[in-house]
Amino acid sequence: TRHLIGLSDLSREQMAQLLERGEYWAKRPGEQAEILRGRFVANLFFEASTRTRFSFEVAQKRLGAHVLNFIPETSSSVKGETVYDTLRTLEAMGVEAAVIRTKKEGLLQELAESVDLHLINAGDGTNEHPTQCLLDMLTMKQQFGRLEGLTVAIIGDLRHSRVLGSHLHALPKMGVKLLLSGPTTMMPQPAQIPDGVKIVEIDEAIQTADVVMMLRVQLERHSEALYISKEEYHQKHGLTLERAKMMKAGAVIMHPAPVNRGVEIDTNLVESKTSLIQKQVTNGVAVRMAVLETLLKGSEMTWVSSL
Ligand code: CP
Repeated sequence: TRHLIGLSDLSREQMAQLLERGEYWAKRPGEQAEILRGRFVANLFFEASTRTRFSFEVAQKRLGAHVLNFIPETSSSVKGETVYDTLRTLEAMGVEAAVIRTKKEGLLQELAESVDLHLINAGDGTNEHPTQCLLDMLTMKQQFGRLEGLTVAIIGDLRHSRVLGSHLHALPKMGVKLLLSGPTTMMPQPAQIPDGVKIVEIDEAIQTADVVMMLRVQLERHSEALYISKEEYHQKHGLTLERAKMMKAGAVIMHPAPVNRGVEIDTNLVESKTSLIQKQVTNGVAVRMAVLETLLKGSEMTWVSSL
């Protein structure tokens, strides 16, 4: 495959290969490679990001690539240039891959056939966030030695989560039993939920799961202010200290972050012994190295040979 747009496009084998290569890089923290030496890649973030944007940049630099960081506010986007025209412009300069975060769901899919460079989805609206899902799966695999047979509970603001969008496709494909839990107003549309994925009450989710994955309340995507106070949300729908005590022995806490401390998760749990949240961030670099390397290796841009 030329692009990484969504995990719905990838087979179990393709995901397993990316995870295997991600594990390879995870075992070599800080190692500098020359695999993409001299090749240009660009990061275009039209929505805010800290960990995805910087871990892509670290991954690109660890592979030896030249990195261009596109800033929408100081680019010709402010003159109305479209993402398509922006990508064609970068292509003409020899940029071989574009990592894109956009508000517009499905934008990368729309562009996939009309551009020559490799597109990597760093989050499109509430649709998919494939590299987040891959790094989550790598983190689970490191912890449990397998994905097959694990029970993962994803809890919180599911409706506005692009992370969930990728997990709904990927986890069942990898043999994971998936439980969903959240406030009624934040549940996904029923049509989005694949067969076999169960909706349960929060206490059941927390008592049953090997992985308790909390999701952020994404207020920036809500049309109205939160209908209850943050304290009440925490008590009714969050991972409180009391609920964390109900977790199975060996179960772990995950969260894609950024975290609303004291809302979906008690602040003391974020860096607790059962939390893998920092590990997820570390694995983000390894997985993104695997993705970049897999897409770009052996595929020098055709424009070079056609000159
Ligand atoms: N998890 C995640 O995508 O974080 P950022 O928005 O900081 O990139």
